[in-house]
Amino acid sequence: MLSSGSGAQRSRARALRGSERRGPRRAPCVRLMAFFLAPALACAADYVGSQVCRTCHSDIWQNFYRNPHFKSVASGEGKPKDTGCEGCHGPGSEHVAAGGGSETIPVAFSQVSAEKVLDTCLRCHGQTLSRANIRRSVHTDNGIVCVNCHSIHSSQSRRYLLAKTQIDLCYSCHTAVRAQFSLPFKHRVNEGVMQCTDCHNPHGAFASTWRMANRPYLVEQAEGNEEPCLKCHIDKRGPFVYEHVGVRVDGCEACHYPHGSTNPRLLTRPVVFTVCLECHSGLGNFGPNNNGVTRPGPYHNLAQPRFQNCTTCHVQIHGSNADSFFFR
Ligand code: HEC
Ligand code: HEC
Ligand code: HEC
Ligand code: HEC
Ligand code: HEC
Ligand code: HEC
Ligand code: HEC
Ligand code: HEC
Ligand code: HEC
Ligand code: HEC
Repeated sequence: MLSSGSGAQRSRARALRGSERRGPRRAPCVRLMAFFLAPALACAADYVGSQVCRTCHSDIWQNFYRNPHFKSVASGEGKPKDTGCEGCHGPGSEHVAAGGGSETIPVAFSQVSAEKVLDTCLRCHGQTLSRANIRRSVHTDNGIVCVNCHSIHSSQSRRYLLAKTQIDLCYSCHTAVRAQFSLPFKHRVNEGVMQCTDCHNPHGAFASTWRMANRPYLVEQAEGNEEPCLKCHIDKRGPFVYEHVGVRVDGCEACHYPHGSTNPRLLTRPVVFTVCLECHSGLGNFGPNNNGVTRPGPYHNLAQPRFQNCTTCHVQIHGSNADSFFFR
């Protein structure tokens, strides 16, 4: 992911850093800067190396060896701009010379815009498929960026440097969703069996073919750009000789609430036939009947209880390889 440069470049970089650390050569520049109060014009800051930061930020340095970002320091091979503290905070010479301050460190996360945070992190993390859509995701649109979810210096999760455990993190902003996962029929997210990221990509999702060009609700795609549901419910994947068009085109959410429901099988309606009749309405030209959807024939007399539970006859409701009416 990160190029470490040629051997010659590396030794040049090290020599450069060495000479900076010797220090005094920088003094006139800093004095000049202080005089004009115009840092950008006076001189650009230089990289000093993470060890220098340790002197004053020992609390942060103390845990840093456990951070995945410590790798660059441990290997000793990255270019200065890709190494340790300054890989994120930018060249620190002015900050050190000034003895601290948020104005002197190029990237002080408490001061910068959401856009700048994205740019800083994506400089190294922009190549990954999981973040391919981050700049156009609904989170980014709402100013929710990397540091709202990840905490570099005080993470509370075992992996991925999350600010909190995943479930607490997501619920801290999406409180209403917790209630949905407490309904009588639900995916067991609150119980820790599943996670939000089994179905969502908080970084943003690809356009999904099952809802043409639409990318709703950050729903992650499974292989082949399918719904994430099919990662686990593989028997529903097909392809079937006889597809149920409603399943293939409208997606699982046409009939199921993905989070939780008061109805068995996470159905959107309490009784099965009321789900079906939303599309298979028997009313003349009303509703989808006019859009090529077949209505149940007259032998489906809904006054008779035996016709009401459609799936006792149309068993393979998600698609069948044997029967075009999904009887088997
Ligand atoms: C991967 C990027 C990254 C690296 C590497 C990094 N920081 Fe930070 N730093 C951040 C972010 C982001 C914040 C904002 C607070 C947060 O999210 O934890 C921050 C905040 C800080 C703060 C403000 C105090 C605070 O805790 O909020 C200091 C001081 C600091 N970093 C120093 C350092 C030092 C010293 C190092 C090297 C040992 C370092 N940082 C390495 C990203 C980084
Ligand atoms: C001479 C002591 C000293 C050294 C060396 C030093 N810092 Fe600081 N740094 C400070 C002080 C003091 C503050 C607090 C400034 C404030 O709160 O206004 C600070 C604040 C920061 C902040 C927080 C800015 C903010 O408001 O979010 C970051 C980030 C930071 N330092 C990074 C670094 C990095 C990276 C290095 C190494 C290149 C480094 N510091 C070296 C003294 C130092
Ligand atoms: C200088 C390049 C660089 C920058 C800038 C950078 N990272 Fe990283 N990041 C890395 C490297 C390298 C790793 C370690 C990857 C590995 O272990 O394979 C890493 C690991 C991570 C991980 C942990 C992944 C895991 O598998 O546990 C997270 C989360 C992360 N970075 C978030 C951030 C955030 C948020 C920012 C911006 C504040 C940021 N990074 C800035 C290079 C960078
Ligand atoms: C809305 C919350 C959220 C935002 C915003 C966010 N992340 Fe993440 N990120 C997560 C969660 C949750 C995971 C853990 C995914 C998992 O458990 O599979 C994660 C995982 C990661 C990982 C490790 C796994 C992987 O996908 O490579 C990295 C690296 C990472 N994020 C970097 C970033 C960077 C860089 C940004 C900003 C450009 C960012 N994240 C923005 C929530 C977020
Ligand atoms: C810091 C607050 C915050 C955190 C943390 C957060 N989100 Fe969000 N999320 C938002 C905001 C704001 C929106 C856009 C407004 C809305 O639709 O609610 C959003 C939108 C979404 C959407 C799309 C909703 C829609 O109507 O389009 C999903 C799905 C989502 N978030 C999932 C997650 C998941 C999963 C996590 C945990 C990894 C998470 N969010 C963490 C604030 C957050
Ligand atoms: C079993 C898969 C699955 C899991 C697990 C899941 N979601 Fe969803 N979520 C979906 C799908 C699919 C949609 C889109 C629903 C639709 O199209 O009507 C959605 C929609 C949403 C929305 C937007 C609609 C709304 O109800 O506000 C938010 C916000 C959201 N999810 C957050 C979360 C959070 C937070 C978690 C974890 C606590 C989570 N989801 C776990 C599949 C899931
Ligand atoms: C990470 C795996 C996983 C994913 C992804 C997943 N599910 Fe599930 N689903 C399960 C498990 C496990 C159960 C068993 C019920 C439980 O956990 O109590 C279940 C139960 C169900 C049930 C109820 C079955 C019953 O017999 O009552 C339905 C309906 C369902 N899932 C639909 C979906 C839909 C729709 C999606 C996509 C939005 C989805 N699932 C995504 C694992 C998953
Ligand atoms: C046209 C409506 C409809 C669509 C679309 C639909 N389902 Fe179903 N699904 C049902 C009905 C009705 C039942 C209950 C069957 C019963 O009661 O025998 C069911 C039951 C289930 C069950 C539990 C019983 C079983 O067969 O394992 C799972 C799991 C499930 N569906 C997953 C999915 C997934 C995943 C998708 C998306 C690929 C999906 N469903 C799309 C109508 C639908
Ligand atoms: C989201 C809309 C939708 C829902 C809900 C739905 N269907 Fe369908 N169904 C369709 C469409 C569209 C077709 C294809 C009609 C065509 O080919 O003319 C179809 C076809 C069928 C067929 C095959 C008809 C034929 O002529 O081959 C049967 C049987 C069927 N559905 C039964 C059901 C049952 C039972 C339910 C309730 C569990 C249900 N459908 C729910 C949209 C839906
Ligand atoms: C007792 C068994 C049974 C039940 C229950 C049942 N059907 Fe059927 N369904 C059939 C038969 C038989 C056919 C005709 C097959 C043929 O033409 O060869 C059929 C055909 C269909 C067709 C294809 C279009 C048509 O009219 O020929 C649709 C759509 C359909 N059913 C929907 C439903 C819906 C919706 C329900 C629930 C309200 C339901 N069925 C309940 C037996 C049943």
